[in-house]
Amino acid sequence: MTDGKPGVAKLLPATIEWRDDALYLLDQTRLPAAIIIEKQLSVEQVWASIKALKVRGAPAIGVAAAYGLCLAMQPFCDLPATNFLQQLALQAQYLDSARPTAVNLGWALRRMQQCLPTSSSSSAKLYTLLVAEAHKIHVQDRQICQAIGDVGVTLITDGMGILTHCNAGALATTGLGTATAPLYVAHQQGLQFSVYADETRPLLQGARLTSWELHQSGVNVTLITDNTAARMMDEGRIDLVMVGTDRVAANGDVANKIGTLGVAILARYFALPFYVACPSTTIDLATACGNDIPIEERAASEVTHFGQQATAAKSIRVRNPAFDITPAALVTGIITERGIVHPPFDRALQQLFG
Ligand code: MRU
Repeated sequence: MTDGKPGVAKLLPATIEWRDDALYLLDQTRLPAAIIIEKQLSVEQVWASIKALKVRGAPAIGVAAAYGLCLAMQPFCDLPATNFLQQLALQAQYLDSARPTAVNLGWALRRMQQCLPTSSSSSAKLYTLLVAEAHKIHVQDRQICQAIGDVGVTLITDGMGILTHCNAGALATTGLGTATAPLYVAHQQGLQFSVYADETRPLLQGARLTSWELHQSGVNVTLITDNTAARMMDEGRIDLVMVGTDRVAANGDVANKIGTLGVAILARYFALPFYVACPSTTIDLATACGNDIPIEERAASEVTHFGQQATAAKSIRVRNPAFDITPAALVTGIITERGIVHPPFDRALQQLFG
């Protein structure tokens, strides 16, 4: 199965492919310089690909993990079913440890385990069921992206300037993306608008991925440094902020790429609507509030080096949280495949997704 990006995004490479019982990932660390599709040869390689952000973005991590679990189970198809199931739990636990913040990782791995029958079956049959479930997760992800686009496009009007942060794009999913889906749908409908993409330090997902994929697809996009967002708002160029998320807590607090909180505070100062787009699989009603969301801390070298080039004093102390929490109070609405959720989020989220 391949992504086969639809419509205006059709020129983009597939993020994830499953062919002949093998998993292929687009190596996003090499974009935009090179389009490298890497065959995953082991579950350890899938774990490392998630950790290294070769595959990244909450929904794509979920799909990759689902297929990664299938790959992990291939060596165990000759075992008795009870041993197969014991291994399944261990392999899922292992994959779940790759990154902590995006809830889609644990969600997909749980769903994969829960899809299997409790009554006895052969390991080969269980493996077939796992692959079928991974396909379902993959297909649903694509459909959900389209639905988010159809819902979110209602917020876009001719002449708008829209700011986004990080990459909640086609590359972060197996479809049109989340925050970018309304942009692709609007572009397809012929609306005229401008997108401003924050470069997103330190790993430059905005520069390397978002501005690249939108530009490839013919969307009018301008790349800015993270510190330029306030200036663009002050110049009156931004009418709307649209970002993705790795996890929405039950009270509507939102975890997303580091820097999102700053953008939300700016949006409030300039009285701009701040929308978060996500699939229902990113809404985590079991987590009460943002403080309970684990925030990944990444290597200091991502901050002290630009590629191989050192840009900071040797052995300098560094903090490198990969995500921050935007409190629900700064969020205008959450765009989901089932509609736009408005405050008070605790009640609205419970009603729609509880
Ligand atoms: O560290 P990354 O690149 O995986 O972070 C990705 C983001 O923060 C995205 O905004 C989020 O996962 C939503 S993707 C649709």
